[in-house]
Amino acid sequence: MDRFIIKGPVRLRGEVGVSGSKNASLPILMATLLTDGPCVLNRVPNLRDVRTTFKLLTELGKNVAYDGNCAVITSAGPLKGSISYDLVKQMRASFWVAGPLLARLKHAQIPLPGGCAIGVRPVDIHLRGFEKMGAVCTTLKGDILIKAGELKPAKIVLRFPSVGATINIMMCAALIPGKTVIENAAKEPEVDDLICALKSMGADITVDAQGRIIIEGKEMLGSMNHAVTADRIETGTYMIAAAATRGDVVIKNCVPSHNEILIENLIESGFEVSAGQGRVHIKYKEGVQLKPVGVRTMPYPGFATDLQAPYMALLCTIPGASDITEDIFENRYMHAPELTRMGADINIEKTMAKIKGGKPLTGAHVMASDLRGGVALVIAALCATGESVIDRVYHIDRGYENLEQKFAALGAEIKRENPEKQ
Ligand code: EPZ
Repeated sequence: MDRFIIKGPVRLRGEVGVSGSKNASLPILMATLLTDGPCVLNRVPNLRDVRTTFKLLTELGKNVAYDGNCAVITSAGPLKGSISYDLVKQMRASFWVAGPLLARLKHAQIPLPGGCAIGVRPVDIHLRGFEKMGAVCTTLKGDILIKAGELKPAKIVLRFPSVGATINIMMCAALIPGKTVIENAAKEPEVDDLICALKSMGADITVDAQGRIIIEGKEMLGSMNHAVTADRIETGTYMIAAAATRGDVVIKNCVPSHNEILIENLIESGFEVSAGQGRVHIKYKEGVQLKPVGVRTMPYPGFATDLQAPYMALLCTIPGASDITEDIFENRYMHAPELTRMGADINIEKTMAKIKGGKPLTGAHVMASDLRGGVALVIAALCATGESVIDRVYHIDRGYENLEQKFAALGAEIKRENPEKQ
């Protein structure tokens, strides 16, 4: 298993380019199941979860060609209505093929995704939406069977603005003639990007002033041609890393408005932040007394749960007390004990993490337990004195393209090694 060796501390300096969004690429790739036409998707990051999605599409009857961040998906024959547990086990979002398969085949059999490291993560909101559209959902030997005689458009009110449920229901509704309305839908930029991609296939989807998604379903959808939006979580991660290391970094090819709350927080903390067309500049001005600014995670446009772990690493570096409340996932503090091993002072009480920042961080041997928690350890290691070893880098590889090359270009001493291969 690969691990990172990082020597700190460093002040990150320079420019870094952001990749296409992982969390937009996955559903857009799955939306290619809605058509037999060829689909061309640009700016698809080369990541583990993207490669898992390619396997998923191949298993379901597609051909995938991928070169230089461009994916071309074409039909290889009739669609299959079920996927293997192996794929769902590797990536929970595999469940999102349910919507397109149900729309195309009127049935889907998907292994029930279990809980994962960050929480229980049920799929009841997805299933309730499918049922509203006329499907019957049952479970059999660990699989969810979703079947419909005829699917009908519906008004669906989500009990929580789940990203995955919004995506799954929207993809299904795009192929059900008539008007489907999703109320209390997720507003994440990845949902907007999926809407753009579906529109390029001929779908008729609008979002009204109240945030309701209105889908005028079609009998058929055509080819897709789309470029994936910038990864706002990767953008936020480099912004936080720049701040934590008291660096001076320009983040390019991003959409600054997708990270507004983070930008506000960094300014309130005392960093110099300027945002322009497709770029954000973060700078620490020598001698400025920083202030730790706590956060509560919320659905977009609130503070992203996916940035909670990296942001915790930043708070550990700023003298003073602050707290974080994690309101989206019930078990998303696994990085906290590892940060503590590096010298941080963090106390977890249910959904709240109380941080006493400014304690010296020292390099240590730590372990990534999930994607964003893993990158929090990388940021802490860049700030810590001495050498850190971060095990289980495969978690980080799910969501950060060329992470070590990008940090190295900003001046970090970071290398990847595999002790089993040495
Ligand atoms: C997406 O997961 C992202 N995954 C997550 O990114 C992100 O953390 C999350 O949205 C929230 O922003 C991808 O885009 C692939 P949800 P998703 O459904 O769709 C509960 C990362 O690090 N819920 O909005 O699975 C659920 O348990 C990741 O890139 C139900 O109760 O998130 C959770 O507590 C990990 N029933 C909350 O809602 C349901 O049917 C939010 O989940 C669905 C969700």
